[in-house]
Amino acid sequence: MQVYDNYDLSELNSFGIAASCKHYCSVSSEEGLKEILNHPSYKNLSILPLGGGSNILLTKDFNGLVIKMDFGGIEKFMEDGDFYYVKVGAGINWHQFVLHCIDQNWSGVENLSLIPGNVGAAPMQNIGAYGVEVKDVIESVHFYDKEKQSNRVLKAPECEFGYRTSIFKTSLKGKVFITHVIFRLPKKIELKISYGAISQELADNNIVQPTIRDVSNAVIAIRSSKLPDPTKIGNAGSFFKNPVVSSQVARDLLKTYPDAPHYEVGNDQVKIPAGWLIEKAGWKGKTFDESFGIHKNQALVLVNYQNATGLQIYDLSQNILEDIERRFGILLEREVNII
Ligand code: EPU
Repeated sequence: MQVYDNYDLSELNSFGIAASCKHYCSVSSEEGLKEILNHPSYKNLSILPLGGGSNILLTKDFNGLVIKMDFGGIEKFMEDGDFYYVKVGAGINWHQFVLHCIDQNWSGVENLSLIPGNVGAAPMQNIGAYGVEVKDVIESVHFYDKEKQSNRVLKAPECEFGYRTSIFKTSLKGKVFITHVIFRLPKKIELKISYGAISQELADNNIVQPTIRDVSNAVIAIRSSKLPDPTKIGNAGSFFKNPVVSSQVARDLLKTYPDAPHYEVGNDQVKIPAGWLIEKAGWKGKTFDESFGIHKNQALVLVNYQNATGLQIYDLSQNILEDIERRFGILLEREVNII
């Protein structure tokens, strides 16, 4: 197995931050993963598993071993009356997987079109968009457990999925390497098009009876109009989660800002869009040193226009976070992993 020293990571993180790691290797098999994790030169180092690099902010060089999870393969290995079961390698680009499903006329992931990153990261933060979360179509997650030194599988109900979270971001954080995800895609096609932006986009194109591909194309059009393309402008999608607050906090906010968008999420809790709070506080579209800032179309997205450091972006996120807390009494939480 080839291990590189002092490896440049700038092409491997969607923020495009210039940073390096002490050692780097790519693995695409369980044997390769075990070999590198047990190698005497590397086994005591800090280890960072890397997927598509689309949800990390590198604030410094990484003084350890980066393992790029390059497991491949998309295989429908089983079907029953209701579902197709598809095994996908962690290193497959998420959108390539979505396009593959659409080509096969498999439904379930079309609303998640164009989300950056790889399949292995999808369960980690339970990616979601336009009324669908990946947990809705996951059957199980396969991973290598570094502490137990064994391959393990968790069924979806054991993954503790929640809004942008899972067991892989909490109690198993840093301990496991996701190698494959098994998807369970329904044979009965039930398109989810009630989300306002999707129904509007379909109506604008005079599509009355949409196909899976129509929905995917609508999502692609919406995302492309709002969100910066990470291959052109460095970013990691939503930088913050949408905060969930008590209904009392929401009522207080609505007294001052009756137009604030808000969604009841049960248990006396209300979700407030962080993008709205950040825009209301005046941050949207701000640019600093012509280098980094807050995107002009979506205030949830921090961007690296050119040559920003990870620390500059981190400090900006801290300033936003403190300002939102001061103005609205609501504490934002970062969605992006800070390294
Ligand atoms: N809004 C503003 N200003 C902004 C952005 C949003 O006022 O700059 C308001 C909108 O007007 C709307 C509300 O906030 O009333 C919600 O906006 P939007 O539908 O664009 O979604 P979001 O809550 O900002 C979430 C996800 C996105 C996902 C979209 C669509 C999170 C953290 N983000 O964004 O996911 O694509 O919904 O479902 O939950 C990502 O995770 O990287 C991501 C892009």
